[in-house]
Amino acid sequence: MRFFASLSLAALAFASLTAVAQAPAAPKAPATPKAQLAPPQGLAAQTPPMGWNSWNYFAERVTDKDIRAAADQLVSTGMKDAGYIYVNIDDTWEGERDANGVLHTNAKFPDMKALADYVHSKGLKIGIYSGPGTKTCGGYAASLGHEEQDAQMYAAWGFDYLKYDLCSFIPDVMEKQAPNDKAEQMRIMEAAYVKMGKALKATGRPIVYSLCQYGWDAPWEWAPALGGNLWRTTGDINPTWDRMYVIASQQEGLQKYSGPGHWNDPDMLEVGNGKLTMAENRTHFSLWALMAAPLLAGNDLTAMKPEVTAILTNRDVIAIDQDRLGKQGSRIYSDGEVEVWTRPLAGGALAVAIVNVADNDRLASHPFHLNLTKLGLHGPQNGKDLWTGKAVTLTDGQPIELPGHDVLLVRIGAPK
Ligand code: GLA
Repeated sequence: MRFFASLSLAALAFASLTAVAQAPAAPKAPATPKAQLAPPQGLAAQTPPMGWNSWNYFAERVTDKDIRAAADQLVSTGMKDAGYIYVNIDDTWEGERDANGVLHTNAKFPDMKALADYVHSKGLKIGIYSGPGTKTCGGYAASLGHEEQDAQMYAAWGFDYLKYDLCSFIPDVMEKQAPNDKAEQMRIMEAAYVKMGKALKATGRPIVYSLCQYGWDAPWEWAPALGGNLWRTTGDINPTWDRMYVIASQQEGLQKYSGPGHWNDPDMLEVGNGKLTMAENRTHFSLWALMAAPLLAGNDLTAMKPEVTAILTNRDVIAIDQDRLGKQGSRIYSDGEVEVWTRPLAGGALAVAIVNVADNDRLASHPFHLNLTKLGLHGPQNGKDLWTGKAVTLTDGQPIELPGHDVLLVRIGAPK
C-alpha cells in the first residue's frame, strides 16, 4: 500500500459513505447471460482455498527465493499434507510493459515460468496478483487494457489462482468516467471484474478467481455469477487482536452467500505474525474455520515456531473449515464478553466455539454459563475439544472459564 496509502484512506471513506454503510441502490452487474459467465474453473474451490500468500509477512520485499522457500516449507512442515496447496505471489512482482504490451517481471522474479514449474514440482499450485487499474496497490503495473493478454500470460506461465485487486481503478477509471455518480462507478467496477473473469475463462486453464475490492457494493451478491470463487468482504487485516476481531464481527449476515465454489473472504491469516499470542492465534484460526474462510497462511514459514505449526496444521480445525456442506457459521449469542459461535457440519454435526473476547481472563468468581438451548441443543452433548484433542461433554448451564482472547472449540458428533 506504499504508494496508495492516501488512496486507500480515500477508498475507505468512500466505501463507508456508499456501498458498505448504506447498501446502495446501485443496479446490479451487467445483464450478461449466466452461461457465458460460468466459473472459469469448473469444480475448483469446492472447499475454501487453502495455501500461503506472501503479503502479510513479506509485503513488497517478496522475491522468487521466498516463494520457493515457502513451497519447500509447505511440504516439510506437513502443511501441504494438511491441505495447504496454493503458493500465492501477492503484489510487487511486476516490471514494465514492452512495446507489444507484454508485462515483464521485475528483477525480484527473474523467471516466472521456472518458478511456477518449481512450485508445481512440489505437488503444489501457484497464484499471482494483479488489478483492473493502471497500477496495483503497491504502485506496480496492473492490467487495464491488457486483461486478455495478461490472463493468457498467467495461463502460459502455469498459474492456478489470480487475486485481482481494485486499487488504482478507482481514480483511473471509476472516478474519471463517472464523477459524482457512485452507482455508475459500481457498475463500472463490476464490469471490470466480469472482464477479467471472461479473460480467465477464455484461457481454458482452471484459475481460481479471487476478487479483492474490500467488500464494496456487496460483492457477495454479484461475484459468483461472474466466476468469482472468493471475494474480500473487508479492508485489510493486520496482525492484531483488535483488527482480527473487528473483521470477524463484520461477517454477520453474509453466511447465506458462501458455499462450494464461492466464498466470503475475510482476508488472509495472520497466525504467527506480529505479536499475536498463541491464544489469539488459536481464536483467529478457529473463527476463520467457523466462517468457512479461505485459509491462506501469511507468516514466514522458514521461521515458524512449532506452536504455530501445530495451530496451522490442526487437522480437526481444518476439517471444520473444509467441511463439505460448505455452510458458513456465525455468532449465535454473547453473554458479557463471551461469545458463542456455531457452524453446522455435514452429517448433522456441529462446531461450537466459545470465545472470551475480553482482554482479561474470565474470573472464576464470574464464570460464563453455557446456554445449550440458545444453540438449539437439548441435553448433554458429547464431543471433542479440538485444541486439546480430548473428549468433552457440553451440558446446559455448564460454567466455562477461559483466558482472555482464548477459545474453546468443540465438535459435537450428531447433536440431539
Ligand atoms: C491491498 C490488498 C492486500 C495486498 C496489497 C498489496 O491492500 O488488500 O491484501 O494485496 O493491496 O499491495
